[in-house]
Amino acid sequence: MAYKDVYDSWKADPEAFWMQAAEAIDWDRKPSKALFDDNAPIYEWYSDGMVNGCYNAVDRHVENGRGEQAAIIYDSPITHTKREISYVELRNRVATLAGALRAKGVEKGDRVIIYMPMIPEAIEAMLACARLGAVHSVVFGGFASSELAVRIDDCTPKAIIAASCGLEPGRVVHYKPLLDGAVEQATHKPDFCVIFQREQEVADLIEGRDVNWHGFQYGVEPAECVPVEGNHPAYILYTSGTTGAPKGVLRPTGGHLVALNWTMKNFYNVDPGDVFWAASDVGWVVGHSYICYGPLVHGNTTVVFEGKPVGTPDAGTFWRVISEHNVRSFFTAPTAIRAVKREDPKGEFIGKYDLSCLRALYLAGERADPDTIEWAQEKLDKPVYDHWWQTESGWPMVGNPAGLEALPVKIGSPTVPMPGYDVQILDDGGRPMKPNELGAIAIKLPLPPGTLPSLWNAEDRYRKSYLTTFPGYYETGDAGMIDEDGYLYIMARTDDVINVAGHRLSTGAMEEVLASHPDVAECAVVGVSDQLKGQMPVGFVCLSKGVNRPHAEITSECVKLVRDRIGPVAAFKLALVVERLPKTRSGKILRATIVKIADNQEFKLPATIDDPAILDEIKEALQTIGYAN
Ligand code: COA
Ligand code: AMP
Repeated sequence: MAYKDVYDSWKADPEAFWMQAAEAIDWDRKPSKALFDDNAPIYEWYSDGMVNGCYNAVDRHVENGRGEQAAIIYDSPITHTKREISYVELRNRVATLAGALRAKGVEKGDRVIIYMPMIPEAIEAMLACARLGAVHSVVFGGFASSELAVRIDDCTPKAIIAASCGLEPGRVVHYKPLLDGAVEQATHKPDFCVIFQREQEVADLIEGRDVNWHGFQYGVEPAECVPVEGNHPAYILYTSGTTGAPKGVLRPTGGHLVALNWTMKNFYNVDPGDVFWAASDVGWVVGHSYICYGPLVHGNTTVVFEGKPVGTPDAGTFWRVISEHNVRSFFTAPTAIRAVKREDPKGEFIGKYDLSCLRALYLAGERADPDTIEWAQEKLDKPVYDHWWQTESGWPMVGNPAGLEALPVKIGSPTVPMPGYDVQILDDGGRPMKPNELGAIAIKLPLPPGTLPSLWNAEDRYRKSYLTTFPGYYETGDAGMIDEDGYLYIMARTDDVINVAGHRLSTGAMEEVLASHPDVAECAVVGVSDQLKGQMPVGFVCLSKGVNRPHAEITSECVKLVRDRIGPVAAFKLALVVERLPKTRSGKILRATIVKIADNQEFKLPATIDDPAILDEIKEALQTIGYAN
């Protein structure tokens, strides 16, 4: 069927569409219906079905004859390791790990934090939780102790599973001290921590709290899959919002299995048995959906890649992995391709590998700039598909459904809405806008299966953040337009979230950290354009009266403070001392105007600006770091 037929069939009868998609999942008890809307605008899917995520991702493939197929290919140029784990091995390893967790008291509904780098054990830990019906919350390794502590206090885990270390080019990330610091800072204490000791660094264990990954599994009874209700949370994944407190996005089990499975063929165009690779990290939604659950539920082989697009060892790493492991569909962030392009503008590395196995390159996570798309199209000689989604949706909202029908690519647009998503452009008053008019991007409720039904322990915040501005719609936080052919264009965020190297970050969170510096009276953080990372945060600080220490000293303390409190992932390296911040008469900082000045874009002087002269001071400050020229 062509895309339009499928989309129209969903629109005509969403219930039938999602019940049919649910057939591809093995239920312990089939749901009697798809949508549960008694509590609208909080919607749930498949609530009265019973299902297990791990069974669908692992065991059923063993039972159906895929036992010997590789489930995971671990390729780590950073440790010079390559390893395959078959479905049967994965089942055995996960069942034993789940058995050991159960023996230590982890049960259905308990939360378990996972703080691990890109190693197969991270996926095994996620699946072991799913096997027990425990709710995992993976925390990205680039976050510092305090961010981990915030998550510990919010989701109150019974256990934390961590690795002794992560490996960044030229640097060992010492997870254990970060973990210990976080547990110390947090009010809630986990019952126990499981430490996977990597050979690159063996950490000291705390007696009475820490257990060794291998030791604690010794002699335990493997655990069977525990069926859970369709709406039971599979995981909580924290993401950045406007304030410093991250949002705990909830992912319901049944819906996410159904939706992810549907996308593997219809969208990413892989058949069971094919190798699928998403070069991201388990700490992000891409890692949850398309390194772990999606490919495994669909019976694909997934690649766990521990490395970078460049420097591990060179800009040919991606192409080597694709060629060596026979990757069919490859997904990464535009920033990764920009990094490759910068090192290898002529694409010489591409020519060294046989990429005939590859069907298409999929890009998401941030705006895909035309230069990057065109370069990849030309050098790879393959289709390049931009697609748009977010942590909250868990799977593509808008994209090119190549498995159904490859639609013409319009560069600059992630293409068209997927079934389940009625995407609308609304004006400030919530009225639908005409084609090509810029407005807020909203999705008509209900959102489809697999999307967030709420935030963990914060239904009010969920309603306020997403459902209040446009009653009857989900507010995506992005602005854009739809053209006369129904193609969507994403133009900007409508809030203070920025996107640095495909990582979603909150400028509000960084401002909170800067404001805690004893010499800082006031501050603002904005995201300015960056050729490699898309955006980069720049902090402006105004000093308290009487502070007359060298500015360079204060700004480097600010940089260190953000790195220590939020983590290296914030990529906060630019701080400037200014006399004053540009504001409206009512005191609102004009962040968007600062960004326009930095990026040399035309801007209209806001009518309500308090003192326009401040903009010249900001411009001069930006020029000292190479912006606003
Ligand atoms: N654990 C600890 N630290 C991490 C980390 C992790 N898992 N991932 C990144 N970091 C650190 C980096 O080492 C870097 O530290 P530094 O300031 O000491 O150099 C910092 O966080 C910023 O990381 P990032 O912004 O990702 O840049 P990078 O220097 O690692 O380079 C690029 C990455 C530029 C090559 C980029 O192209 C890239 O691949 N980014 C990741 C894209 C991605 O997967 N996005 C996920 C959404 S799909
Ligand atoms: P995250 O929740 O980390 O996946 O970030 C989601 C946000 O990243 C979206 O709301 C967008 O702002 C941005 N984003 C993701 N994909 C795209 C895309 N293809 N084009 C433009 N922006 C994107």
